[in-house]
Amino acid sequence: MTDRPFPQHAFTDELRREAGRLVSDLAESLGKAISEVDARPAMPVDPDAVLSALREPLPETGEGARAALERLLDLQARAGANTAGPRCFHFVIGGSTPAGQGADLIASAFDVVTYTWVLSPVGVRMELQALDWLKQLLGIPASMTGVMVTGATMANFVGLAAARQWWGEQLGFDVSAEGLSGKPQMPVISSGFIHASTLKVLAMQGIGRNAVQRCAVDATGQLDRKLFAERLRQLDGQPALVVVNAGEVNAGYFDPVAEMIEMARQHRCWVHLDGAFGLFAALSDRTKHLVAGLEGADSITVDGHKWLNVPYDSGYAFVRDHGLLARAFRYSADYLPTEDDPRPTPGAIGPESSRRGRSFAVWATLKAYGRDGHRRIVEHCLDLAQHFAAQVDAHPALERMADVPLNIVAFRFNPGGLEEAALDALNRQLGERMIEDGQFLLGTSKWGERTIFRPAFSNWRTRFEDVEALAVRIVECGNALRNESAVS
Ligand SMILES: Cc1ncc(COP(=O)(O)O)c(C=O)c1O
Repeated sequence: MTDRPFPQHAFTDELRREAGRLVSDLAESLGKAISEVDARPAMPVDPDAVLSALREPLPETGEGARAALERLLDLQARAGANTAGPRCFHFVIGGSTPAGQGADLIASAFDVVTYTWVLSPVGVRMELQALDWLKQLLGIPASMTGVMVTGATMANFVGLAAARQWWGEQLGFDVSAEGLSGKPQMPVISSGFIHASTLKVLAMQGIGRNAVQRCAVDATGQLDRKLFAERLRQLDGQPALVVVNAGEVNAGYFDPVAEMIEMARQHRCWVHLDGAFGLFAALSDRTKHLVAGLEGADSITVDGHKWLNVPYDSGYAFVRDHGLLARAFRYSADYLPTEDDPRPTPGAIGPESSRRGRSFAVWATLKAYGRDGHRRIVEHCLDLAQHFAAQVDAHPALERMADVPLNIVAFRFNPGGLEEAALDALNRQLGERMIEDGQFLLGTSKWGERTIFRPAFSNWRTRFEDVEALAVRIVECGNALRNESAVS
């Protein structure tokens, strides 16, 4: 036995003495931080200057919970990016509904573990209920098995793991047992819209990024139907994976979902549908045509921390065949639940064994706001995108680069008189300037060959005045950059 036993009583005393105060003080600061999210800049100026405090040696004796948590809150307030705020349009970042946020705090407070029913009957049953609700919300067949994961990357991982398992079984072997050594490469066919995370998954699963046959008419990535049909034909009866993209990240475009699925169905293909944010088009009569036919997919990816507006991290995979998931992710040992245990074990049908209580936030937001509330969040964002597109169209120094089918607006700063290459360089520089400026968070990408901005609107908090201010600020920063380069 150690001569310095762990002072358990100190933690217990700290909790007894401080828990109430900690919670009430923290609740006050946290409540303020959450309710004042609208007022904070998207990115504080020079956060790394504040964060030099994070380069200190490990404390030999700690400062106690109160001091540590106060320090943490202070650093977050002064140096945190305001990704929950109304002016974060980078990547595809959703907000958090009040119910989702509250439920997530509860899940953390109770340290909920949803590996299996025995660890959290509430969390596990709530996951099944929430997944059922998501199917009803999005038009996913009730017969599909769902599993919660960290995000769309891991949902793609689940979908592709099921596809790979199916593909192996079609060829007469069990991938999860035998691996891929000495086996042929699984063909993967998609448009040019295939998301980077799917390539990452192909790398992680030993299929390889290079397996993808992209059928695109041009550098924007839009489907080349003839080439797609040709690639399918060339399979010559061999099993393959087709990835259909419902919502790409540069302009919010969609593959022709129903058409691709129908074409793939004429061949021996598994169809994976990546609808990380685009599947929410199903909620609105204005956009549901974009995902018509989704029920024909074999596996489907949906993200929650994007357009469902639940806190990070939260994603969902839906797969046609439960058995494939059970075989792909088998997780068994003498001390673990058996496969025939009637009590559910989500940790045995997905990649993560230990899992946090993600279901709390999903269940709570759907319970609190229902289909109608979430439809209104989606339609609010559709309106924001159209409103911003109108600002772009109305300004002589801004140029819209694509249609706006959903919630992303591809545009660039174009003051006139510059060649394409110079415009690309200017917009890249302007992207850096916007991050330094910190009023908005947004990034650049490419639409075809051209450099663009691509603000994505997926947060209930964003107001019309925010998107109007974005158009004004981009032009101010763009003009300032131009003036500086004219002077130097
Ligand atoms: C279409 C698509 N798929 C997958 C992903 C990856 O999502 P996550 O970051 O939640 O893993 C994204 C993220 O933007 C996406 O837009």
